[in-house]
Amino acid sequence: MFFSRLFKRFFPVDRRSSPRGEAGPVRSVRTEAAVAPPPSPFLPLSALHDGMAPPPAATAPAGPRFSRSVHGLLPAQQDRVRPVLHEGFTPTQPIRHALFLAGRARELERAIEAIEYQNAHLVIFGERGRGKTSFANVLVQLAASAGYGVVQHACHAEASFDHLFSAIIGKVRSRYLRRAAERFAAGDLTADPSGLGQHSRLGASEVTEILGGITTGRLLIVIDEFDRIRSETIKNEFVELLKNLSDLGARVTFVVVGVAQTLTELLALHLSIQRNLVTIHLPLLDDRDIEALIRRGAETAGLEFLPEASELVVQFAKRSPHFAQLLCHHGARTGMRRGSTRIERRHIIEGLLTIVEEAKFVHDDAYRRALGGDDVATADLLFATAQCRTDDVGQFTATSVAEVCRAISTNGTADPAAALHRLTLPEGGGILKCLPDIPEPRYSFIDPTLRFYVLLRQASARGLI
Ligand SMILES: Nc1ncnc2c1ncn2[C@@H]1O[C@H](COP(=O)(O)OP(=O)(O)OP(=O)(O)O)[C@@H](O)[C@H]1O
Ligand SMILES: [Mg+2]
Repeated sequence: MFFSRLFKRFFPVDRRSSPRGEAGPVRSVRTEAAVAPPPSPFLPLSALHDGMAPPPAATAPAGPRFSRSVHGLLPAQQDRVRPVLHEGFTPTQPIRHALFLAGRARELERAIEAIEYQNAHLVIFGERGRGKTSFANVLVQLAASAGYGVVQHACHAEASFDHLFSAIIGKVRSRYLRRAAERFAAGDLTADPSGLGQHSRLGASEVTEILGGITTGRLLIVIDEFDRIRSETIKNEFVELLKNLSDLGARVTFVVVGVAQTLTELLALHLSIQRNLVTIHLPLLDDRDIEALIRRGAETAGLEFLPEASELVVQFAKRSPHFAQLLCHHGARTGMRRGSTRIERRHIIEGLLTIVEEAKFVHDDAYRRALGGDDVATADLLFATAQCRTDDVGQFTATSVAEVCRAISTNGTADPAAALHRLTLPEGGGILKCLPDIPEPRYSFIDPTLRFYVLLRQASARGLI
């Protein structure tokens, strides 16, 4: 189908069978030149819409100033640093175009298959900053190009079901709601789809009538930040709606997006809805995807990342797209400030140190408590915890921490499991959470930024950066 063909155009080569790769522990920072990079999994930038990749400008201005007016780049103020980086690396913005989405081919393929062939609703979940909104944006882009009607909505904590769906239906183009409007005019519906929020109260059955009445086209409705909804009543009503629409074979697919470790954290789950849902837990990227992200960003920004600079980003990003974007952004900014479009290892290091400085206010207290006194074994354990091998969702075991401890430390840690347990308690900074599992518990950082912070602080304290 057309949706699938579009997908293949944007994600041509990422059907690999090899396991997800990961850089090894940061023991020392290597500087030897890397082998030639693999071919880019992206389309050439020329495929991008005009104007999205501004050329690097020539001269740096004196003193701080805005580089673009709200209407675009100011010719008189062409700052050679910021406008270019703005497009190349986006640490504060979700990806909005398939050309910039690294990896995710498998997950997009699964999502498209679920929408096209299974007529299922989708739930996309994962850790904060994992790339959920970026993924949903690209799915929406591909769907819109394939002729789907699309609606994107971000939840607010205080939303009632009525508020939530008044806002969502208010974003649906009127041609989809024509039949519901006719039925309302004929007195068959209690809710007027064109006057929602004023005099209608929407429950699951009213929304079923409105959306279930769509007779032409197909509609994709993305609800982002669903984790902000705490009310079980809203969740229950929403699940009822999903079930109703599935039973009707409606022309509407919901894509629910939110921060969660498990599906049940996000949605009140009834057995009856499970077969109508496809869940996609977004994994970390693999190292090759991070390399591709760097190449694409550099290409867009008109920069060259030297192999040892890219290698350092891969080592420290630890498969996180967000931290890769952040490191590249700061490294590139440093390089360009120094008048270079060739980004070197030292530029990335300077960027790393800036990130540490800026994050101190947020994370230093927890970090200090985790570190306790000046105990070398605890410091080694922290360093090992921040860089040990994780599974695809960022969880690890005491065994994998102990492996890294043995590689970086001569002291060793007598009981890594007990030491990790301490890090889950307030006196240990509460930086980890523990998930009971067999044969041994799994751990993860309560916030991915904390892992990154611990890694940078420890690498810096050991003179590795
Ligand atoms: N596949 C990707 N390729 C390149 N960059 C990505 C990718 N996924 C995410 N990013 C980048 O990572 C950062 C976080 O992405 P995004 O906002 O989509 O994550 P999120 O999971 O929605 O975050 P949150 O949990 O805060 O809502 C952004 O800077 C985005 O540009
Ligand atoms: Mg998001």
